[in-house]
Order: sequence, then C-alpha cells, then structure tokens
Amino acid sequence: MKQTLKNPYLPEPAIIKKKVRHSPDNFSLYLDWHAHYSPGQFVQLSVLGIGESPISFASYGKDYVEFNIHEVGRVTHALAKMKKGDKVYIRGPFGRGYPLDLLHGNNLIFVGGGCGVAPLKGAIEYVEHHREKFRDVWLFMGFRSPDDVLFKNQLDAWKSSFIMNTTVDQVKPQSCYAGHIGFITEEIRKTELSNANAVVFICGPPIMIKKTVEILVQKGFHDDQIFLSNERLMHCAIGKCGACMIRGKYTCIDGPVFRYDEIKDYKTD
Ligand SMILES: Cc1cc2nc3c(=O)[nH]c(=O)nc-3n(C[C@H](O)[C@H](O)[C@H](O)COP(=O)(O)OP(=O)(O)OC[C@H]3O[C@@H](n4cnc5c(N)ncnc54)[C@H](O)[C@@H]3O)c2cc1C
Ligand code: FES
Repeated sequence: MKQTLKNPYLPEPAIIKKKVRHSPDNFSLYLDWHAHYSPGQFVQLSVLGIGESPISFASYGKDYVEFNIHEVGRVTHALAKMKKGDKVYIRGPFGRGYPLDLLHGNNLIFVGGGCGVAPLKGAIEYVEHHREKFRDVWLFMGFRSPDDVLFKNQLDAWKSSFIMNTTVDQVKPQSCYAGHIGFITEEIRKTELSNANAVVFICGPPIMIKKTVEILVQKGFHDDQIFLSNERLMHCAIGKCGACMIRGKYTCIDGPVFRYDEIKDYKTD
C-alpha cells in the first residue's frame, strides 16, 4: 500500500458522524474522514490531551470510515465518551493490510474472535464489493456470550453471500439465545475445509489463533496460506521507535497482517 506524503506525525481532525454501541464495552465510531487504505491497515486515533491508540479500519467504503473500539484504558475510555459532532484526531493509514488484491480467484476463510472480528470486517466488506472475484467464502466468528456479539446486523446480512458459522462460548441459564454454543475452533475442526486454492485470515485472542492454526495444519493447510493480524504496543507507527518489533520485523510497517511463516517461531509466552 502506497503511503501518503504528508507528515506522518501530524494528526488531522475528523468529525464523528455516528456512534453505535455494540456491547457495554464496545462501540463503533463512523468518521467523516477520507483516505486511501486497505483492510487490515490501522490508524493512530487520538483524543487531545489524553493520547493516541492504534485502531484498525473496520469498514471498506468511500463515504466514511468505521473504527470499532473496545474500552480498555485511557484513550479508549475517552473515545467512548465522545458523541456525534465531536472531533477526534487521526494519523495514518499505516501498516500492511490483507493482500486481497492478490488473492482473486481463491476460496477465503475468515476466523475472528471477539474484537478481532472488527479488522476482518473491513476485509469482508472488500470481498462483498468484489464478490465475483472470489470463490467460496467461509466466516467463522466466535464471541464470549450473546451480549458480546458484535455487528449483529452485518452477521445476518453476510449469511446471503457467505458460509457463516457464529458461536458463543457460553450462555446464562434461561437465556433465549438460539444459536450455536461452543468454541469457534470446534466449528472449524468439524467443517470439511480443503486447502486447495484457499487462504485463511485470522484475528482474535492469541489462544484462539494458536488453536485455529493447529487445526488448519492438521487439515493440510500450509504456513503460507495463513495470515494473522498482530497487536503490539505501538508509539510512532512508522518504523522509528522499535516498540512493536517481532523477530526483527516492525508490526507497524511490516504488519500488522503477517503471513504465518514470517512470524511462526515467535513465542508470546
Ligand atoms: C495494529 C493494531 C490495531 C488495533 N486495532 C484495534 C481496534 O480496531 N480496536 C480496538 O479496540 N483496539 C485495537 N487495538 C488495541 C488498542 O490499540 C489498545 O487496546 C489501545 O491502545 C489501548 O489504549 P488505552 O489508552 O485505551 O489503554 P491503556 O490505558 O494504554 O492500556 C490498557 C491496557 O491494555 C494494554 N495494552 C495497550 N495496548 C496494547 C497492545 N497493543 N497490545 C497489548 N496490550 C496493550 C496496556 O498495557 C494496559 O494493560 C489495536 C492495536 C494494534 C497494535
Ligand atoms: S511503533 Fe515505533 S517502530 Fe513500530
């Protein structure tokens, strides 16, 4: 992806067009901001006087950009207090996204866990826009509980174009939830998936990624058919500070999307 020539340290203002809450600690901001980006890339989103955080694109469209945010600390709590019409600041786009332009003609398998579904959503919307360029597309989306399910409307809409599998890990007693219960990795294990002309994109908690990769390898997938999104602490986002390095690679410029063989020997624990 070609980076723009503007000063990469200088944030630009953007107005919040819409805010949608998905769960008690998760929401999306739709911003009136235009940039040439590919799904899987990220921006540094900031609130003046508080700080900035790397946040991935959760959309693929021309009229607005969507960022989906999980509230965990200072910046994300400050973003959660903002409303339609407020101003945030953005640097970016940064990093390497999903190589979708190079994968036309392939079967695609998306595996998302919790907030990890958000960066994949941008890639899935790309595939929706270019549906005729891809063959079969499977979506495996896992959430902790029915209350944690994100993008409910989109999940329903995607059923018409893709082979959908959505699960929640557990439900409360007397819950009226009617969908699948169990880990999404078990759905992947049970599904007949061939590695012929297939590429997999995974984004989610490390344990889900690890199990998914193990299952895919058992099913015959090769390391270079699997792409992972990685999260690391970041500061500069442009390959200068070294905060985000994995095995000599910068997550901010060589990633955050990596082909599995590029980082497979890196141990996080
Ligand atoms: C490339 C990339 C894309 C991301 N995309 C999204 C996204 O789309 N939506 C979203 O909600 N979050 C995303 N994140 C994570 C998000 O950037 C962090 O949760 C955020 O920076 C936390 O900022 P804060 O000030 O709210 O929390 P802080 O107060 O800074 O931190 C809260 C806690 O989270 C830990 N933490 C902060 N950042 C990270 C990190 N990157 N990795 C591991 N632990 C961390 C801190 O050590 C602390 O324990 C992304 C991260 C990266 C690197
Ligand atoms: S965040 Fe500074 S080098 Fe990647």
